[in-house]
Order: sequence, then C-alpha cells, then structure tokens
Amino acid sequence: MEKKEKIVLAYSGGLDTSVAIKWLMDKGYDVVCYMADVGQGKDVENARKRALSIGASKCIVADLRERFIKEYVFPTLKAGAKYQGKYNMATSLSRPIIAADMIEIAKKEKAVAIAHGCTGKGNDQVRFEVTFHIKAPNLKVIAPVREWELKTREDEIEYAKKHNIPIEQTKKKIFSIDHNLWGTSVEGGSLEDPCNEPAVETYITIVKPESAPNKAEYVTVTFKKGIPIAINGKTYEPLVLIDKLNKMGAKHGIGRVDMIEDRLVGIKSREIYEAPASEILYSAHTSLEELVLDRETRRYKDDLSRRYAELVYYGLWFTPLREAFDAFIDKTSERVNGDVKLKLYKGQVIVAGRKSPDSRYQLKLATYGEGDVFDQSLAKGFISLWAMPYKE
Ligand code: ARG
Repeated sequence: MEKKEKIVLAYSGGLDTSVAIKWLMDKGYDVVCYMADVGQGKDVENARKRALSIGASKCIVADLRERFIKEYVFPTLKAGAKYQGKYNMATSLSRPIIAADMIEIAKKEKAVAIAHGCTGKGNDQVRFEVTFHIKAPNLKVIAPVREWELKTREDEIEYAKKHNIPIEQTKKKIFSIDHNLWGTSVEGGSLEDPCNEPAVETYITIVKPESAPNKAEYVTVTFKKGIPIAINGKTYEPLVLIDKLNKMGAKHGIGRVDMIEDRLVGIKSREIYEAPASEILYSAHTSLEELVLDRETRRYKDDLSRRYAELVYYGLWFTPLREAFDAFIDKTSERVNGDVKLKLYKGQVIVAGRKSPDSRYQLKLATYGEGDVFDQSLAKGFISLWAMPYKE
C-alpha cells in the first residue's frame, strides 16, 4: 500500500479540531495531532485518547508552560505592551510559540503539511500561518475550518455523529473561551451585543468584584531587571509566581477587561479578558519604572509599548523588529529593580509603595521640608528661556 503523506494538526480536544482529524483523513492524510500545554488546564490525557480514537496516528503533547512565560510573557510585560492599551495578549502570545514548536514536530515527523483549527475571521489564523511562512515556507498549510462546508456548530455536530467522532458536549456552547496561564479570553453569545452587561457566566476564573472580600490584601512584588522574581520577600520560579498571583488576584476580582477590540482582519469584536496575575504585575512594573527611568526614556518607551503590542497582536513575533524592540527594552530594564507594595481590593490593584536601589527620585530635590538643596533662583532664568521662542 502506498504510504500516506503526513500532516501535523494543532489539536485542542474541542469540536472543531476533532472534526478536522476525520476531515483531513478523508483528504488522504496520515494525521499527527499536536497539543501544546500553555496552562489551559483542560484534560489533556482524555483529549489525547480522543484524537487516537478518531484515527490520528499519533498525538504528541508538549509542555511549553515555562518557555511561554520566560520567552514570551516576560518580555511583553517588560515592554509594558497591551493591545489598544487594555489587552495583555494572553492568547496572541501563545500562538507563535505553539506554531514554532509544531514546525519542529513536523520536521521530525517528516510531515509535508501543517494544519490548525482557526476560523477565517480571527487573528489566530494569522499568528499561526505567519509563523509557518517565516520558519517553514515549504510546508503546505491547511485550515480545515476555513475550507470545509460545515457552516454552523450544528453542522459540525451532525458530521461528528455521522462519523462516530466522540465529542464532549453536544449542547450549544454559549461562549468561546481560550484560557492559558497568562489569561482567559471570552467572546460570543450575549457578549456579541456591545450594549449587554456581561452575564455572571462570563466570569471564568475570577470572582465578581462585589463578591470579593471586604478586607484588602497587601502583596509585595520584587523585580530584577524588569522581571518579577519574588512575592512578599520569597523567591519563586516563574510558573509558581504566576500561579500564586493569579489565585490572589482572582480572589479579589482583579484583572477583568471589557473592550471593543479591532481585529487585524478589520472586524470590531467585543472581548472579555481575565488576567489577575498580569494586572498585578503590569501595575507593579509600571510604577517601578516611574521611579527609576528618566522622563525622556519613559516617554520614548511609552511609544514603543504600543508598537510592541501591535507587533505581537499582528502575529509578527518572529521578526527582526521584535528583536530590535527587545534590545531596547533590555537596556531600559537594567534599572527596573526593586519592590512594589500593592493593595488588592474589590477588583482594584492600588499601588501602596515602591522602592528601588536604582531610584531616580531625590528627596533632597523634591522636598518642601528640611534638607532642600534645590536652588530656586535658577527657575527664573529657566522659565524665561523656555518661553522665549513664543514671546510676542
Ligand atoms: N481576540 C483575542 C485575540 O485575538 C482573543 C481570541 C481568543 N479566542 C477565543 N476563542 N476566545 O488575541
């Protein structure tokens, strides 16, 4: 018998990609499933068994959690990047690492093609495929959900039944949820009307702020070169540190974003995000930078944060521009050392104090009390020169 050509499919265990296994098999492929663990917390073992029972010849599971945090999340945190000023890009950041690892698997497996389960309306297809194009231009890319005739979820469920594809739940899925260590994205259902207040079912990982404890909790985060290394004076590995802050923040209803977002493909969409650890760390990191960076560096870095976010959101992780941005951020991060004390209270992160060995704050200049060394007589000449070009 002629040997079938291999395809590596990014498999999530859900309906779309389960149906995609069968659909690709019918196209004549030997399907190798690939599952990346980025902390989505789903039952990976069951999903793996399901892939094999549908007919995948293999299902490879890769634990990318630590690399995801160290190589993708922390550089983005250091850059202060949030898309449109609000979204920490938990989903966006997971795509390039998954895509790059899939390529390695495809090479090992001697696959000729690679596939994903994204639709033609979203950003994730772009992030996957741009990475495929950059790193493995010779691999054929197939996006079954974009190509097949199954128009609705009901059509897919019908197809699954007809082909004995085991699926977890057949009842209508209300929201589309993507979850990893760095955050949760929720879209669809009643959220599609921007006027609707999000229902309680859209709270996936955190409590509603009004149900959070009445007593505030304080937490101190220590940074070294812009990277969080300790909580309340105790050093933790990145995964443990994020997990602890996620739990702490979730208890206080912290890290929810409700926004209308502009997708790369031109659609506006209503998105809910939950990212408790991220919210705590961004607040802490920003307030430490206020203390240690000079005014012009801060100003320049602010512009770069926005550009960095767009680059990540648009799927351009593996580009020389991102490397150049990182070089700049690494330089400015040299001074981002110290402790930030935060108060967590009913959905809010309130910075309560900050200190740094690299602080640029000088009490002897700022004080209105004892020990003032600022020469006020210099101000007169300075102001006169400052206004000079505009004098009439
Ligand atoms: N809009 C976000 C992004 O482009 C999240 C997409 C998440 N996907 C989902 N199934 N909820 O990064």
